[in-house]
Amino acid sequence: MAIERIVNTTPPDEGDVDEQELEQTLRPRDFKNYIGQERLKKNLQLAISAAKKRGEPIDHVLLYGPPGLGKTTMATVIANEMGAQIRITSGPAIERAGDLASLLTNLQDGDILFIDEIHHLNRTVEEVLYAAMEDFKLDIMLGKGPSARSLRLDLPKFTIIGATTRAGALGAPLRDRFGMTHRLEFYTPEEIARIIKRSAKILGVKIDDQASKLLAERARLTPRIANRLLKRVRDYADINGDGIVDTDVASQALELLEVDKLGLDPADRHLLSVIIEHHGGGPVGVETLAALTAEERGTIEDFYEPYLMQIGLLERTPRGRKVTPKAWQHLGKKPARTHPPRMQSRLDISVD
Ligand code: ADE
Repeated sequence: MAIERIVNTTPPDEGDVDEQELEQTLRPRDFKNYIGQERLKKNLQLAISAAKKRGEPIDHVLLYGPPGLGKTTMATVIANEMGAQIRITSGPAIERAGDLASLLTNLQDGDILFIDEIHHLNRTVEEVLYAAMEDFKLDIMLGKGPSARSLRLDLPKFTIIGATTRAGALGAPLRDRFGMTHRLEFYTPEEIARIIKRSAKILGVKIDDQASKLLAERARLTPRIANRLLKRVRDYADINGDGIVDTDVASQALELLEVDKLGLDPADRHLLSVIIEHHGGGPVGVETLAALTAEERGTIEDFYEPYLMQIGLLERTPRGRKVTPKAWQHLGKKPARTHPPRMQSRLDISVD
């Protein structure tokens, strides 16, 4: 099944939501409620207004950036603002050209097809897709061998919104079919604090400004993590307090979660420690790191590294990953002193 979800873009009735729907509930549905990504919103608002004025669908959009920054949310916001229906699928779910053909032929004019993890599309599917994006036609082969015939189908005027953690992993022809390509940036701590307050209001959590600020400093500049921390802190407050989240409750809950002052959890600290302890701080190749930490290379690259680099704890160098002095300090370790190569004095010269 290539279609995973058809998102209902109308707000759910209040009080009618169970735990699994919480994540959905917290997602803003329009630009007005979407906090942060100001430049992206401006660009999209312009494109949407222009498309509406012309009575056309908007151009295909590629959104890239680390996980949890709101690519899917932004896609549903675009659909809402366009008044369009959105269908949500993902690269790995579209295995064959036939899967894509059935998705595309079931679209209606103006529909948006959101493809998450679009870099996972295989080459054959990718080729069918970029041809379809270009001229809204679908070339399909009927039969095999000498009797095979090709058939050209007209498709509705749809919009593809692709999301990926790695724009670089997309083939150039596919990348070129997107009229707009935008990177989602990490949020500022102030934006994250506003997101936490908004979510707390929706969830009915009482949290003060200081506690929102504390959570925001530890949420890796990422809304998904901010909302997750808020829910865990709410649990803690419900069980160990009176349900009100103040700084004491928030810091106790964060301590229990082992989330430190920079928002690192045990897995982040382990990654940095491995570089320090096994490789003197680096540089070390990512494959070696993957083996040492028993993590997938992709997880290290997509999930751990962007934030560690953003806050200046890790560097990517041509020779591998290297921790910064700030990382040594954060982990309470002292960098081994590296001496510049000593000038050889005459007395040092020995003859073998
Ligand atoms: N919840 C998750 N992401 C959000 C955002 N960018 N703005 C408001 N609420 C959010």
